[in-house]
Amino acid sequence: MAKGLILINGKISMEKDLSNYRKSYEKQELLENNLVDNPNELFLRWFQEVEAHFDEEEANAMTISTIGLDGFPKNRIVLLKKITHDGFIFFTNYKSEKGKAIDANPNVCLSFFWSQAQRQVIIKGTAQKTEANISDDYFRVRPRGSQLGALASNQSEIVENRGVLENELIQLEKKYLGMDVPRPDHWGGFIVKPVEMEFWQGRANRLHDRIRYQLTHDSQWIKTRLSP
Ligand SMILES: Cc1cc2nc3c(=O)[nH]c(=O)nc-3n(C[C@H](O)[C@H](O)[C@H](O)COP(=O)(O)O)c2cc1C
Repeated sequence: MAKGLILINGKISMEKDLSNYRKSYEKQELLENNLVDNPNELFLRWFQEVEAHFDEEEANAMTISTIGLDGFPKNRIVLLKKITHDGFIFFTNYKSEKGKAIDANPNVCLSFFWSQAQRQVIIKGTAQKTEANISDDYFRVRPRGSQLGALASNQSEIVENRGVLENELIQLEKKYLGMDVPRPDHWGGFIVKPVEMEFWQGRANRLHDRIRYQLTHDSQWIKTRLSP
């Protein structure tokens, strides 16, 4: 069977009823007596628990939604690469669709769904480019293929066919043979500084725990429980 083809026997229907997809969430709870004052601390605790005890393949995969230049929100997955006191850092092409959207409107929303732990975290915040040295440091430790790939791809631009990209990669491999690959100026980090963080823990009978932290004007976090 050719690579990339998935074999489905019989006729493929254009409709599907998913009303029988149902799961009960009963693994954990999120109660007020467990809450810390700073949501970053809770995020880190949850992240470390997911890493240590649950079989999530890419716990750092997160959805980032932006408001596009066309007025539509758009979600896509990126990889969280650093958590600091100031925020959440990921790397991308600054000229991509998301890069342009953030330039025009820095308000973004991140979300994580850790299915094995039955947890969701939603983070509203503002995105800004990281300092160049943070992008340099991360670019340096990427595998060489990923470094060259970042140079080869004008992310989000139309490309005529796959061969164009593969040729570009071959040219770049030759150009930088025996040399370090330089980070292109248009590739780097964004840091998302949170203003609101919501923690969702699945519970029985759809009575899930939802705790929302909101940042006040004097930089205090207030927390409230939301109805599921
Ligand atoms: C698991 C996974 C991880 C990804 N990680 C990144 C990433 O860290 N940075 C990135 O720019 N794109 C990443 N992508 C690709 C993005 O989802 C997206 O296709 C790309 O950034 C272009 O988005 P845009 O055209 O909306 O800007 C990842 C996709 C998947 C499925």
